[in-house]
Formats: sequence, C-alpha cells, structure tokens
Amino acid sequence: MLLHIPGVLSADQLARIRSALDVADWTDGRETVGAQGAKVKRNEQLPDASPLRHELGAIVQAALGRHPLFHAAALPARQLPPRFNRYRGGGEYGFHVDGAVMALADGSPLRSDVSCTVFLSAPEEYDCGELVVSDTYGDHTVKLPAGDAILYPSSSLHRVTPVTRGARLAAFFWIQSLVRDLAHRRTLLELDQAISRLRAAGGDESAVLQLTGVYHNLLREWAEP
Ligand code: NI
Repeated sequence: MLLHIPGVLSADQLARIRSALDVADWTDGRETVGAQGAKVKRNEQLPDASPLRHELGAIVQAALGRHPLFHAAALPARQLPPRFNRYRGGGEYGFHVDGAVMALADGSPLRSDVSCTVFLSAPEEYDCGELVVSDTYGDHTVKLPAGDAILYPSSSLHRVTPVTRGARLAAFFWIQSLVRDLAHRRTLLELDQAISRLRAAGGDESAVLQLTGVYHNLLREWAEP
C-alpha cells in the first residue's frame, strides 16, 4: 500500500529547510548502509550526528505528527529521526530493501514497518529521480510536489532512478507501527476513513458509534505496543 500525504510542510517550513540544506555539509550516502546497499547507492546525506539534521528533522516530524492521515495510515509506535539526502549528477539508489531492524538513539531496536519519504524539491527542479516501489502489483513510480510525503511498506523492493538534471532533495525515515501486518493496517485505514466520511455526512449516530467500536476493538486485537 502506497499512501500519498499532501501538504505536510508549509511553504515557510519548506523555505527554511531548503535554505539550510543549500549551505549544508553533505557526506557520502554509503556511510549508513550495509554491503548490499553500498553497491547500488550513489547520493549524499546530512551526517547522522549533524545538529542540522536533528533541527530540520524535528520540523518534519512535528509537521507529520499534526497530520491525521499520517496517524491513521502508519499507526506509529516509534520512529527514527529523519535523514536528509540529495541526488544530483546522475546520483541514484538501485533496487534494495531497507534493513528490518534498526537502532534508535538509545540503542533500543526499531522494526521498520513503514518507510516515509518527504519530497523537498519540486518535480520541475530535476529530471528523473523517481521513487520506484515494487510490489506484487508491479512497479509504482512516485514523484511528488515539494512538501508532500509518501508512505510505503518497508518490506518492498524500491529504488530512486538517476537524477539527470538539477537536484532532488528529500527527507526520509522509518516507522515501527503499532500494527505490524500491512493488511491489518490497510483495513484500519479504510475503516477510519469510512467512519470519518459517515460522520462528516451526518450519518446515523448510533451506527457511527458502533463502527468506531469495531475500529477500536480491531486495533486492540492487532496492536503490539
Ligand atoms: Ni531504501
């Protein structure tokens, strides 16, 4: 399941992040991957320990945290602080899978269930540089307006195609979901959205209440905090 979340960052937030990234010190993106990833990864990243990464990451995380669609879709239990990357001059990241278990700052493990990319460059600023996510239905190509986010299953093969003109800036991070199973997360999202639509349309109150009960009972059944 790929989910597009529009308008995560405001124009002001985007301008703040972009002006900081314009003058940032970038490092080789291969520093944060294993042997499999290093063979196919050609991009730049903000160093993990960089104060700027944490400052800008906090802006991105707070903006997503205010977005109801993000919560409904990801049902986050914990998440890694965002990283920032830049692709230019033919930079790309070939097909790979993200690590299944990552370490949080305190050393505790995070299981990657959901991957999130927030686009920071407008599509017309660069050529190619699409995110391609491969699942059982085929390849999905994603190139979003600056400030929009995409959620996709961390279990999927994915790549970023070579950027042949301009620069592609993005923030990305991983989420451990309260609900580990992708099909369960999808069911909960569909139920949540249907309940919201019924409520907005002034649907039968007792039916909305009953469905809300079903939602929470499914979440109680499936959540692993
Ligand atoms: Ni990846």
